[in-house]
Amino acid sequence: MGGFATLDDIEVAGKRVLVRADLNVPMRDGQVTDATRIERLVPTLQHLRDQGARIIVMSHFGRPKGKADAALSLRPLSEALSTALDGLAIQFADDCVGEAASEKSDKLQDGDVLLLENLRFHPGEESNDAEFAAALAALGDIYIDDAFSCAHRAHASVAALAELLPAGAGRGMQAELDALEKALGSPDRPVAAIVGGAKVSTKLDLLQNVISKVDFLVIGGAMANTFLQAQGLDVGKSLHEPELAETARDVVAAAERASCEIALPTDVVVAATLSEGAPCDVVEVGSVPADMMILDIGPISAAHLGKRLAECRTLVWNGPLGAFEIPPFDAATNAVAADAARLTKAGELLSVAGGGDTVAALAHAGVAEDFTYLSTAGGAFLEWLEGKPLPGVAALKK
Ligand code: 3PG
Repeated sequence: MGGFATLDDIEVAGKRVLVRADLNVPMRDGQVTDATRIERLVPTLQHLRDQGARIIVMSHFGRPKGKADAALSLRPLSEALSTALDGLAIQFADDCVGEAASEKSDKLQDGDVLLLENLRFHPGEESNDAEFAAALAALGDIYIDDAFSCAHRAHASVAALAELLPAGAGRGMQAELDALEKALGSPDRPVAAIVGGAKVSTKLDLLQNVISKVDFLVIGGAMANTFLQAQGLDVGKSLHEPELAETARDVVAAAERASCEIALPTDVVVAATLSEGAPCDVVEVGSVPADMMILDIGPISAAHLGKRLAECRTLVWNGPLGAFEIPPFDAATNAVAADAARLTKAGELLSVAGGGDTVAALAHAGVAEDFTYLSTAGGAFLEWLEGKPLPGVAALKK
């Protein structure tokens, strides 16, 4: 990728460095339940500390809509940041701009870390307000964006601020953009994409972009039901979108024109209810009983996918193949994930996955560590798959 500065290009010793992080992490009872985003921030913070920078971490948390909301304070994240940085004391400013923040920022010593209160307590953050961006810029000398997962938001701390200070990408942002470039920008071919999930309607832009980039597109999840029904097959009580049948046929036709092969399941797992251990059956796609629903792709389809992946050099995965949260409807996702992980470990496949349920599905399959790159981004990963320009990336390239 390139086209932007990284930590290797910027002299930070003794400088106040504003780091845009994504500390919008899952929490329960004041405790972080998944610290992956925090752990991914550590290489950037560690580099800055090693170089003697004075670090000011900025983030949003939740969607407070421009008003202070104690339930969405970033204060509890100080402890999680401290744990990630081997017990380092983290300072905290009760507001992300103004006197509270500037006094603390001015007093920082080399290697210190200051966490600012939730950026979205100010309406100027989401409106990309120039004055709010200037107030943030006044706190630092250098801007580092390490929050790919916020790159789809044209918010002040992501877009306007990058124009006001010397700017660069943190290690996490750099790793993410590097992985995405290898996956779809200039990939080793053949390239496969697995796109699952519930609704075609939410993934139409994604499908249209992906068919122009990959050689082999696997459609799974309830989305596949819409495609099967569009081919005239009876999908029984399965979740599907009959009003999108024409659209599904258009996607198939566009894929043909783009020489992208689409793989739909040939066999499926059906059950009367979506509940753990529900009695289920495997049937061919043309034989779904009227009172049953499709809840996973079948074992023949999953084995076929595994074989086809062995012929590919690159895989992009977004969305599970079945209702993976509820066994036994996790079987195909688990099996294909294991195949992709094995090929990746053998050095035969570059595998990049992300968005929504995908990371949870691969963690459930026990292979999250074995993929080449797992994106912690939800919306940003989807918008990237849709081929949309990401304001946070564009701002770094200016
Ligand atoms: C995310 O969790 O995907 C990012 O932090 C962005 O959050 P948002 O959807 O509230 O902008």
